[in-house]
Amino acid sequence: MNRPIGIFDSGLGGLTVARRIIERLPQESISYVGDEAHIPYGEKSPEEIQNFALGITNFLLEQNAKLVIMACNMSSATALRVARAHFPQAPIIGVIEAGARAAAKEASGAPVGVLATTGTVRTLAYTKALGKLRPEITVCEQACPKFVPIVESGRWNSDEAKETVRGYVEPLIKKGCRTLVLGCTHYPFLKDLIAGAAGPEVAIIDPSEETAAEAEEILAEAGMLNPPHAEPVYQYCTSDSPEQFTELGGRFMGNTISNARKITWGKELGAIECRDVTAGQRARSAL
Ligand code: DGL
Repeated sequence: MNRPIGIFDSGLGGLTVARRIIERLPQESISYVGDEAHIPYGEKSPEEIQNFALGITNFLLEQNAKLVIMACNMSSATALRVARAHFPQAPIIGVIEAGARAAAKEASGAPVGVLATTGTVRTLAYTKALGKLRPEITVCEQACPKFVPIVESGRWNSDEAKETVRGYVEPLIKKGCRTLVLGCTHYPFLKDLIAGAAGPEVAIIDPSEETAAEAEEILAEAGMLNPPHAEPVYQYCTSDSPEQFTELGGRFMGNTISNARKITWGKELGAIECRDVTAGQRARSAL
């Protein structure tokens, strides 16, 4: 019964989703992968991200995950469809549909701003998802390539972080945005700074809350929620330095991370042949 919920990201960002899952479903176990060997995902090609996402999803399913959450916008935008086609045996969800739903509920008629990585902005995934729900709303997407390195180095409240946040947020406010979506799971680490730069009139949407609600709904419907007093087990893996992940992740997650485990591409994580179901193409890239 105590099968984990699998969660992955390029690094620390997905912990913002893991933390919501722990708050909402404290009886559930988690198996987490941060692919720090390949960070930043937001600066890589969709084909590379698909390969990483398939390899990690496969690993999480081998860990017996009952649900896989792509706690990464770049993966959700480029690899969700491929992963679902490849692994029909388990539900797989992303964060973009959830983020768009949350923003659609919150937004007035004013433009919605999306802060995201270069790669996610390039896909226009939020513009498309929000367009389906609130076609009358203008969406302004802003690439923020400097945020992930700041978060991954633990400089969450530094002067540099404040300055950088201002540089990305102010143009969106000038365009009239009154709702800002944190379109990368790393950005909730900077949420207070972003809210400060945006001002009190602006609603900040963190898709992780709606994602956790969706996870609960799927597991409840499938009768797969753990009983209320089950003892959760948390396993955190990284493809780079477990010491650094434990230190920085621990700062964010409190005592649920004691010892991150190192997993390696080519050993625990392997290449999975990637079938693009619509184009019928087959691709396999070196990892
Ligand atoms: N946290 C990820 C996202 O939500 C990826 C960040 C990165 O590695 O560029 O898109």
